[in-house]
Amino acid sequence: ALTEQDFKNLPETGIDPDNSGKYQALLDDLQGNILKGHGRDYTVDIFVQWKSDDIPAVKEWIINFTKGYVTSAQLQADESRRYRDQKVSGSVFANFYLTRIGYETLGFEAFQIPKNQPFTMGMQYEGIRTSLGDPKVTDWEVGYQQKIHSLIAIADDDQDSLLKFANQITQELSKIATVLHQENGFILRNKDGQVIEHFGFVDGISQPLFIKRDIVKAQASDRNFSKWDPRAPLDLVLVKDPNGQTEDSYGSYLVYRKLEQNVKAFREDQQALAQALKIQNELAGAYVMGRFPDGTPVTISDVPMHPRNPPNNFNYDQDLTATKCPFHAHIRKTNPRGDSVRNSNVNLEEERGHRIARRAVSYGEKDLTNASTEGSGLLFLCFQADIENQFNFMQARWSNANNFVKVGVGPDPLIGSPQGTQHWPTEWSKSSTQDYNFKLWVKMKGGEYFFAPSISSLKNLP
Ligand code: HEM
Repeated sequence: ALTEQDFKNLPETGIDPDNSGKYQALLDDLQGNILKGHGRDYTVDIFVQWKSDDIPAVKEWIINFTKGYVTSAQLQADESRRYRDQKVSGSVFANFYLTRIGYETLGFEAFQIPKNQPFTMGMQYEGIRTSLGDPKVTDWEVGYQQKIHSLIAIADDDQDSLLKFANQITQELSKIATVLHQENGFILRNKDGQVIEHFGFVDGISQPLFIKRDIVKAQASDRNFSKWDPRAPLDLVLVKDPNGQTEDSYGSYLVYRKLEQNVKAFREDQQALAQALKIQNELAGAYVMGRFPDGTPVTISDVPMHPRNPPNNFNYDQDLTATKCPFHAHIRKTNPRGDSVRNSNVNLEEERGHRIARRAVSYGEKDLTNASTEGSGLLFLCFQADIENQFNFMQARWSNANNFVKVGVGPDPLIGSPQGTQHWPTEWSKSSTQDYNFKLWVKMKGGEYFFAPSISSLKNLP
């Protein structure tokens, strides 16, 4: 079995699924998409509530679905190697998740249910809702106002066959469950083929890395990790599955949030900000996000540099007073890269312990020339070992907080709730600032906390 040390220290070049060694059992029993995104272009998420009058039939369905479709971390890696070597497309990718209520409905005892406070309470819980700055539950989309038991998440590169498969699942489920809600997601790309979000910025650049291929690639494109090391120990995202059937059965907590983006209003506010500061529109956007749309970090440059691979080997050591990248900028709030070490009593390891593995996809409008006001946004997903210390901490204590990383910084203008006033540089790299209240154009429409059980626990439901 893997030891505590194996979870605290990642091998120098990460885990290599082509040569798994002692990680073999872990990768075989862990669901995919956790240590590395599945990379499929289309997703369907099906939220269900099990009918409690025939739980044996429910369990049989889950067991069969797991055996037939749920993709392990090892299979994910094997399929992507086959795709690289032989251009053979992978099969449909599937995950299966449970909420705390889902576990209870299936008859699990308290000691068998993963224990993490937010997971236990649920995202609708008043104390959590207010600390995250979320709208009242009655204002969420109806599907999310229900008590969700499970999330069945499937993904494929072929949208037609994916939607057919989703219909098949929904039909199979009709006798044993109520399908509460379905989300259809997709990967948005810019004309260079890079993954972007609806406001037009390249996304998914900075991630905690665990897998050798990802680490080698990042090392090559950034030359080295001298200023920022993206590698992360397994215990950042994995926890022991109390119901696992092997010595190395692990799972992870999933935070799922539907975040609507008002693209038109965001663009107008960005333009108004640029006018107020008398700066280029693009620079104003970079002051919101911390990067230009092409991924260039604004702490490095005041103009986009059109990098083929957006740099991630940087920190804010050359920008201690935030005259280049404001403290409030989305990526500086959500990853201070040492700021919180300088400004409070935490060490870098602790700060880095708040990181999350982001696995978001877009939904809604696919045509980028239509700046939508509603109906489009991000299906924000992230994995972690401790929701309170990771996603919730990041949203509540960093993005929402007026006083992080210093008194009066203001909220993250992209996702900080409630919205507020920030200090914006009037000239890049000079200390003069001007106040501006950038409004919150991202609206939370609903969500829930889930656990991704080990595959062996799902195949052997009691
Ligand atoms: C980075 C967009 C919500 C956490 C980024 C980046 C973009 C972006 C464009 C830069 C690309 C990168 O560095 O990977 C958005 C949009 C959101 C959203 C449009 C909502 C619609 C969130 C939320 C969180 C979050 C809710 C967590 C509370 C992060 C983190 C990074 C990031 C941790 C990486 C920062 C770094 O390591 O430098 N986001 N984001 N984002 N975002 Fe978001």
